[in-house]
Amino acid sequence: MLTIRLLYSSAAAVGMTYGALAELMAQAQDRNSAHGITGMLCYGSGRFLQALEGDRTAVNALYHRIATDKRHRACQLISVEEIAARDFPEWSMKVVNWEDGDTARRRALLAADAGTSLFDPGTMTNGQATAFLRHLADLERELAGD
Ligand SMILES: Cc1cc2nc3c(=O)[nH]c(=O)nc-3n(C[C@H](O)[C@H](O)[C@H](O)COP(=O)(O)O)c2cc1C
Repeated sequence: MLTIRLLYSSAAAVGMTYGALAELMAQAQDRNSAHGITGMLCYGSGRFLQALEGDRTAVNALYHRIATDKRHRACQLISVEEIAARDFPEWSMKVVNWEDGDTARRRALLAADAGTSLFDPGTMTNGQATAFLRHLADLERELAGD
């Protein structure tokens, strides 16, 4: 199997609150499980940063669906890479609300990885976004006691 990781950023449509996102993600996670897709989605300041990992055909099909979803706009590909190992193997889609939880530690990660205190994934390089999501995943695992 050819496995890839795709990163993109986007801007939430008007009315796309965290609550609305959580609702849509319950179904998205079931769908991802069925297609062997794993990943992470960070939502904050009306912006999304999402990583999709899995079979190349499945990830492409999903990204094309997501990119035309009217619940967000300005989808911008950050990177598509072939990977030997997944960064988020245990999550059918881990959703992180940037404004919730251990905000100070998250902000410290963002400052270290992207050199900014503002969550604005549309301005991140691939290196910054990849490192940031990996560290965010580590923090989530730690907070969950894994
Ligand atoms: C920010 C965002 C992230 C999404 N992530 C996923 C996802 O990981 N998996 C998924 O199946 N759908 C996801 N969706 C929903 C898809 O865009 C789409 O509505 C869903 O796959 C159903 O496709 P369909 O309406 O063509 O049947 C996401 C939507 C948004 C706005």
